[in-house]
Amino acid sequence: MNETIVSMKGICKSFPGVKALDNVQLELRSGEVLALLGENGAGKSTLMKILSGVYTRDAGTMEIFGQQYGDLTPKQAQEIGVAIIHQELNMCRHLSVAENMFLGREERRGIVLSNRKMEQEAKRVLDELKIDIDPHQVVGDLPVSKQQMVEIAKALSTKARILIMDEPTSALTSKEIDELFRIIRQLKANGYGIIYISHRLEELQHIVDRVSIMRDGQYITSMNFQDATMDEIIAHMVGREIKEKFPRVTCPKGKKIFEVKNLNAGRMVRDVSFDLYEGEIVGFAGLMGAGRTETTRAIFGVDPKESGELILDGQAVTIQKPRDAIRAGIVLAPEDRKKDGLCTKLSIRHNIALPNLDLLCGPLGVVSRQKEDAMCQQAVENLKIKTPGVDIDAGNLSGGNQQKVVVGKWLARNSRVVIFDEPTRGIDVAAKVEIYNLMNQLKEQGIAVMFVSSEMPEVMGIADRIIVMCDGRITGEVMARETTQNEILTLATKFETKVASAAQ
Ligand SMILES: Nc1ncnc2c1ncn2[C@@H]1O[C@H](COP(=O)(O)OP(=O)(O)OP(=O)(O)O)[C@@H](O)[C@H]1O
Ligand SMILES: [Mg+2]
Repeated sequence: MNETIVSMKGICKSFPGVKALDNVQLELRSGEVLALLGENGAGKSTLMKILSGVYTRDAGTMEIFGQQYGDLTPKQAQEIGVAIIHQELNMCRHLSVAENMFLGREERRGIVLSNRKMEQEAKRVLDELKIDIDPHQVVGDLPVSKQQMVEIAKALSTKARILIMDEPTSALTSKEIDELFRIIRQLKANGYGIIYISHRLEELQHIVDRVSIMRDGQYITSMNFQDATMDEIIAHMVGREIKEKFPRVTCPKGKKIFEVKNLNAGRMVRDVSFDLYEGEIVGFAGLMGAGRTETTRAIFGVDPKESGELILDGQAVTIQKPRDAIRAGIVLAPEDRKKDGLCTKLSIRHNIALPNLDLLCGPLGVVSRQKEDAMCQQAVENLKIKTPGVDIDAGNLSGGNQQKVVVGKWLARNSRVVIFDEPTRGIDVAAKVEIYNLMNQLKEQGIAVMFVSSEMPEVMGIADRIIVMCDGRITGEVMARETTQNEILTLATKFETKVASAAQ
């Protein structure tokens, strides 16, 4: 038991302008969960892409199950038994769950695809994992959390022995996370080796045996999880100590900026009313699926509103589409950055400049390159976006740095209301602090900040006032400094008991 099943040594990999991996090593044993930790851009995903055959290495050796391999193709890696669940969901949105699970290794009857067989097999795997998803369903219609579960089922259906999970929990509800951990423990007991990447350090204690830490493309150290304190781990990741994880600034509460009155939009936004004031950050807590994202989308004009009023600086505003919102001074950094927040095929420059063309164009409608440069430079500097330049495709940035671009494009505007929906998802400890500082900066400038987050410690640590939602309704409002996690949880599950008893 516990023999070494993967040994990577001296791995190097460069991209234009970036040395992503510099002499990196990694060892994985059977029956263990190894957490691979490091800040955004440290090279974790790149290393795992080499192990799973997505990228080829520039130098280094790789031994898997005792055999030496040079460059692998994804298919070879799969045959050896390496499966990867990628950080950014990689599914074909227009295909069904079963089709996605068997993509590239379809069951055939002669030359005809056997849909039935694939659906049966998909159902079997999903049932085995106790994942309640219909294999016929089109993936694009599923919420992100379910899509992520499909990715996991897909990886497991390949009969892998080495499983790489790159941020598998970033979009899961706490129930789904428990379910995933149950599956991980089961796999571990069966002798699988699991490499687990996550920025949610608090969850590691439930499953992790060892940690390996990377920083700036280099291998730093490995240790038994039991033997290390969280502060030590963080210090290795960041290269310095982080004193204050939740920096809070205090400002006097000023005048009312934004008022939402009796907003209704679909099933998940029922009669929502709240006010935002100058000089405060208002956190929106709740369980995933409570209607917080839907509320932000309805305000911002992505989804239609059935009724309700929005009042900005004392004036009623009509918002039918995001453009109306942006013009009025209300901006949104959305939850699903790949779908709504970022054009991965465009450069950082264009991602930042495009929504701000009105500010960048001169009287003749010509974009001022100078202003554009200054705007992009400012965003990169303020948010410490790690990139060799602003003309790199946003899709090539590490996950956390992509998130910073989504936030960065709104920095330039003189907005009145900035809405952040899960802004720190997939972001490392140090970058989280940068995002909090950014929110604090906006707060100090007198901008109303609405902050949706499912991470209880950060809502309690950063927001001044917390509004809790459950099942599309506001169930309570508390002051962050005076409340407890329990109080928030009680409010966040207010209707759950009713639902449960109704179901019986
Ligand atoms: N296809 C690519 N082209 C160019 N640069 C890339 C590419 N993939 C990764 N990089 C760069 O390599 C470095 C390492 O990125 P990587 O995605 O491995 O980081 P990570 O540790 O997974 O970070 P995160 O926690 O944010 O996901 C980054 O500087 C990134 O911009
Ligand atoms: Mg990554």
